[in-house]
Amino acid sequence: MKKQIRKLCKFFVALVVVFGITACSGSSGGAKETDNKENKEQTQIDWKSEDTLVIYFSRTGEQYKVGTIDHGNTAIVAETIGETVDAELYEILPADDHYPMTYDELTDVAKQEQEDNARPAYENTVPDLSKYNTIFIGAPVWWGDWPMIMYTFFEENAKALKDKTLIPFSTHEGSGLSGFDQKLRSACPDSTVRDGLAIQGSDAQNDPDAVKQEVEAWISSLGSE
Ligand SMILES: Cc1cc2nc3c(=O)[nH]c(=O)nc-3n(C[C@H](O)[C@H](O)[C@H](O)COP(=O)(O)O)c2cc1C
Repeated sequence: MKKQIRKLCKFFVALVVVFGITACSGSSGGAKETDNKENKEQTQIDWKSEDTLVIYFSRTGEQYKVGTIDHGNTAIVAETIGETVDAELYEILPADDHYPMTYDELTDVAKQEQEDNARPAYENTVPDLSKYNTIFIGAPVWWGDWPMIMYTFFEENAKALKDKTLIPFSTHEGSGLSGFDQKLRSACPDSTVRDGLAIQGSDAQNDPDAVKQEVEAWISSLGSE
């Protein structure tokens, strides 16, 4: 019982953080919104081609609302996007798999990383990004932000991501996109960042057909062919 209350408290705090941050980015991001609209008109995206890659970070183990899972929520969404646009996938894996498998411990580690502005290492070799023009990039919302390991990825690959079209997506349990798009624009200022998609993690787990429809509608709204 105590554990459940602690879990709910942590989640509530996370949501408060998120809404605060989203409100801030909304009030300061007007010019960038305009940029994005312009980008939208300029960019023609060629789906169903070898030019498109889906990059994601996702965790299994104990997750909020869905219990213990062996297929991460964000992984499910990433695979759905990959199938829809016929693109290859690349999963960012943490070095030494240092993240705990229980929700409480994971939230503590993630919070500490955020407070330290840490850049946790990932272990796998990044594919040759020069082969791709369009890159979907997604992760779970952690404490109202991208997990810090994603900033490691953005910074280490900033040069390779230059001039690419980046399309963010999140899974979450109430915070939506949490400003992933604005934060990605700041981290990769030389890339074009398109409108993102937020999917509730428990929907990815429990209602994949509905999520597939949502992904398809979003992709066609981004404009293609
Ligand atoms: C460390 C941590 C922090 C989280 N913070 C938030 C949050 O701020 N807002 C939110 O809506 N969900 C939050 N969640 C819930 C996750 O975003 C959600 O369960 C997600 O779908 C998990 O995806 P995954 O299985 O791909 O890792 C958090 C989960 C964890 C583990």
